[in-house]
Amino acid sequence: MKKIEAIIRPEKLEALKDQLLQAKVSGITISQVLGCGNQHGWTEYIRGSEVIMNTRSKVLFTIVTANERVEEIVELIIKVAQTGEVGDGKIFITDVADCIRIRTKERGEAAL
Ligand SMILES: Nc1ncnc2c1ncn2[C@@H]1O[C@H](COP(=O)(O)OP(=O)(O)OP(=O)(O)O)[C@@H](O)[C@H]1O
Ligand SMILES: [Mg+2]
Repeated sequence: MKKIEAIIRPEKLEALKDQLLQAKVSGITISQVLGCGNQHGWTEYIRGSEVIMNTRSKVLFTIVTANERVEEIVELIIKVAQTGEVGDGKIFITDVADCIRIRTKERGEAAL
């Protein structure tokens, strides 16, 4: 099993959620987060005052899936989230040791 964490633009939230549900992923966790990538320390004006900004609102999708679905899901995320402009986001993939469905105590992929 792998955990896919995709940090994307907030305006892509609904489209990505719809596509992932259509693709019948077993579960999705969505979080509102703040972050920065390579660009930080830019200036914005808030009520006339200059403010140095380091982070922007982003949305984090967490999906745990069977290994054989990882590439398909990654492709889907890119298709929805890519604009070609800086700040499109990033995808991290990590190994997951186990999963437990609390209701039934099922383990591993059976619990996804
Ligand atoms: N190395 C990282 N570790 C943790 N979070 C990251 C990392 N890189 C990016 N993020 C998260 O992803 C969000 C979007 O990153 P972003 O797309 O700006 O990456 P980037 O490397 O600056 O690429 P680009 O040059 O296309 O903007 C950030 O706001 C941050 O939340
Ligand atoms: Mg960036």
